[in-house]
Amino acid sequence: METIVLLGAPGAGKGTAAARLVSRLGVRHVSSGDLLRGAVKQGTAAGIEADGYMKRGELVPDALIGRIIADLLAAGGPDARYLLDGFPRTVPQAEMLQQVVAAQGGHIRGAVVLDVAEEVLVDRLAGRRVCSKCSAGYHIRTLPPKIADTCDACGAKLVQRSDDNAETVRNRLAVFRRNTEPLIAWYAARKQLARVDGVGGADAVAERVIQALGA
Ligand code: AP5
Repeated sequence: METIVLLGAPGAGKGTAAARLVSRLGVRHVSSGDLLRGAVKQGTAAGIEADGYMKRGELVPDALIGRIIADLLAAGGPDARYLLDGFPRTVPQAEMLQQVVAAQGGHIRGAVVLDVAEEVLVDRLAGRRVCSKCSAGYHIRTLPPKIADTCDACGAKLVQRSDDNAETVRNRLAVFRRNTEPLIAWYAARKQLARVDGVGGADAVAERVIQALGA
């Protein structure tokens, strides 16, 4: 098993880059946020537990998301290749990931962080729209759909994510600084980290990630 870890603040463009990297890198995109939103929508026990944390812009407990990711990775088998978006985002989650990968005889190819200034993050999240059916992401100004409010991929209605309101965004950014910046330092100390400028066209950013991974 091989895993690549994509790191970055809320709105850094992890999901947007991942959508472009899947076919280029031959990996499966695993978004912890999408998995949790799916669980909330389905009303599973994990979703019911996660819902309040997500609405407030706080991290769900490490054990909750760790279990979901560990089950998913274990089910993929030893030849699977993953691009993890949104997991890990704390040091204990990264330690959990190391154990799961090691148990499968796999390795972590590297962690890439998308660097984006805070004022750009706030603008991106305010203008983000997502497909209500397939979760494809857009931005009202920088990445608009071909037909207003309609997903290019599946034709369903675009909506604003409930955690993209100004107050929750402020909290998500604070949580990133508190919990995930130490994780970035943790990967850097292990010489597993590459930093990529996350500002510029979405295709250009994806290309920088590929280069940073030496792919
Ligand atoms: P999650 O869904 O992971 O949200 P996030 O990390 O806050 O990241 P986002 O999805 O908001 O941003 P993104 O970096 O993917 O940006 P995007 O590509 O969409 O997590 C949500 C919640 O779930 C958390 O708050 C937490 O509660 C919980 N959770 C998830 N994982 C967890 C974990 N491991 N542990 C604990 N709790 C967890 O881009 C944003 C916008 O910018 C879009 O509009 C896009 O079109 C635009 N854009 C992107 N790239 C560009 C570009 N290059 N140029 C111009 N515009 C761009």
